[in-house]
Amino acid sequence: MKLCVENLSISFDKQLILNHIDFQIRQGEFVALLGPSGCGKSTILNILAGLLSKETGIIKVDNQEIKGLSDHFAYMPQSDLLLPWKTILDNVTLYGQINHDSKAKENALKEFKTFGLDGYQNSYPDQLSGGMRQRAAFLRTALCKADILLLDEPFGALDVITRNDMQDWLLDLRKQYNRTTLLVTHDIDEALFLADRILILSHRPASILKEIDLSNVSKSRDWLFEQGTLKKEIFELLKGENNA
Ligand SMILES: Nc1ncnc2c1ncn2[C@@H]1O[C@H](COP(=O)(O)OP(=O)(O)OP(=O)(O)O)[C@@H](O)[C@H]1O
Ligand SMILES: [Mg+2]
Repeated sequence: MKLCVENLSISFDKQLILNHIDFQIRQGEFVALLGPSGCGKSTILNILAGLLSKETGIIKVDNQEIKGLSDHFAYMPQSDLLLPWKTILDNVTLYGQINHDSKAKENALKEFKTFGLDGYQNSYPDQLSGGMRQRAAFLRTALCKADILLLDEPFGALDVITRNDMQDWLLDLRKQYNRTTLLVTHDIDEALFLADRILILSHRPASILKEIDLSNVSKSRDWLFEQGTLKKEIFELLKGENNA
């Protein structure tokens, strides 16, 4: 297993938020975490990225226990966190520059068109729309060479057409690079379209309600349109949790 999460729990202000969360991700697998707002999805990613301390639990990457910050994870947080005083090119190549990668800018520039950022290399974050900033933050994460991507609602602020383009692009990227990914999303379609496996979380305190295996499905937009029954089942589960 690439990533093992065992018995993860955390409370804030004496309120239990995560309740013994267990899951595993195989090398190259794409897993989506789907759950009601406020159930603790971002908290799980913050713990994995080492930004929050867990109360109980063990996190292992390649069978080695991880504590605190590690270089295994490339994290795209829910807020874009671009540095306002750096250009978009400097922002997206931040990890490359930290690691003295002399080709970081050259490699990044090749991706600007795909990410809809062509011509904005030398702009500053406050000159971009919210959606463009989100794409820049996603590009920065995708360019980081860490072995596990943690993506928190990476397409949340994008319009539906751009979002679909980015999802198609991400699906292609997966075929090319085989990167292990944990994606947090509210969007049932996005989870179905991108993930090999979906983990549905309950309302707070979050535990895993259901797991849906899609690893043998050949994904396409047409396939997605045909999933009415499965979408309804997931929707009812999430709705039940929202009303819990
Ligand atoms: N650092 C923190 N200190 C105190 N409470 C926190 C902290 N981080 C998160 N929480 C609380 O924990 C709960 C889960 O928050 P989290 O951001 O993980 O939810 P989420 O599932 O990502 O929600 P959304 O879908 O709206 O992004 C919320 O009640 C939130 O207020
Ligand atoms: Mg969140």
